[in-house]
Amino acid sequence: MKDFIFKMPTRVIFGIGKANDIGAICAEQGYKNVFVLTGPHIGKSELLVRVKSSIEGAGIACDYYDKTASDPTVELTDEVAGVVKAAGADAVVALGGGSPIDLAKAVCMLQTNEGSVRDYLFGGTKTVTNAPIPLIAIPTTAGTGSEVTAASVITDTSKNIKLSVTHESLIPKIALIDPSLHLGMPQLITASTGMDALTHAIECYVSLNAEPFSDAYALYAMRLIGENLRVAVADGSNLAARTNMALASTIAGCAFLNGGLGVVHGIAQAMGGLHGTPHGIANGLILPYAMERNFVGNLAKFRDIAVALGKNVEGLSLREAAYEAVEAVFDLVEDIHVPSSLKDLDIGPEDFPPIVEGTMNFRLLAINPCKLSAGDVEKILLRAREGRYAL
Ligand SMILES: [Fe+2]
Repeated sequence: MKDFIFKMPTRVIFGIGKANDIGAICAEQGYKNVFVLTGPHIGKSELLVRVKSSIEGAGIACDYYDKTASDPTVELTDEVAGVVKAAGADAVVALGGGSPIDLAKAVCMLQTNEGSVRDYLFGGTKTVTNAPIPLIAIPTTAGTGSEVTAASVITDTSKNIKLSVTHESLIPKIALIDPSLHLGMPQLITASTGMDALTHAIECYVSLNAEPFSDAYALYAMRLIGENLRVAVADGSNLAARTNMALASTIAGCAFLNGGLGVVHGIAQAMGGLHGTPHGIANGLILPYAMERNFVGNLAKFRDIAVALGKNVEGLSLREAAYEAVEAVFDLVEDIHVPSSLKDLDIGPEDFPPIVEGTMNFRLLAINPCKLSAGDVEKILLRAREGRYAL
């Protein structure tokens, strides 16, 4: 077995109603001036009031910014970093989905590292040298795993690309997971973010960087998603399904922090930058088609995925059993009604060249289970345009 290092530096505090403990948690950490970052929807909700009064109730100064947007841009990140700096905050609480958490990671980094976030994006001129101010992430969706990972994905609108700042010091100090916050999530967000979590688990499990710890996390997350995502989408008030999806998302995050990702995230990141396709929608759509291409790279592990997602593989050959993983994901995509063809997104072959180019530049393509050429990526996109039953 190859040597490996498994890291999981975030303290995970998990429980229904735990968001109410944020004040006590900040006090225990010794914070004096906390800045809450969230989006306009939560900005108008009682949740922000609750979080803010819990922090202030612990005798801690608390300011907030509620205009974070999905897919944060370089400009927004730099602006919010300035607002937080002016407030003299010694810690940040990110309250929301992956976008505000990613934004908060970069904002915390820019409190102690000079310049624009653009300088620190993949291929940029600067590297993170000083420890960011601490971040507590409170996710309100179950999918990105950003509450435990090292990457902050930022959109550079001047080039229509999504890039990330990835550095271990960006990993949140605390992830406060309260599944009751997920009860009001709309169906499409539940479905698409759930597919993001599944993509993390599957891509990580078959990545060339996978190791026994990331495998254990990834496989457990897949089982939870296979058993709970349909219910969470069909009945958003089902707290048990919400709890299991919240667990799965964070566990899958721990997995891919260590094991990495693959071609699906490369394509999703390119589609996000070029077409604004939401991350979970792009992942859910591309995942089964990428698996069609990738399953030959690790038949035994794809068979494990099929079993984890509930397929009966008894009596099948290893190859047949491995292919059942692809069918399992196609079935799930159909059952939870997320887009299943690029036709649904109005993306056609004329749009493929820059998506292929962006995917080929994706840092983690190197650990995809099969080595892929630009032609291979184009074929995956063509299949995703044709749809499941075109074969
Ligand atoms: Fe993702």
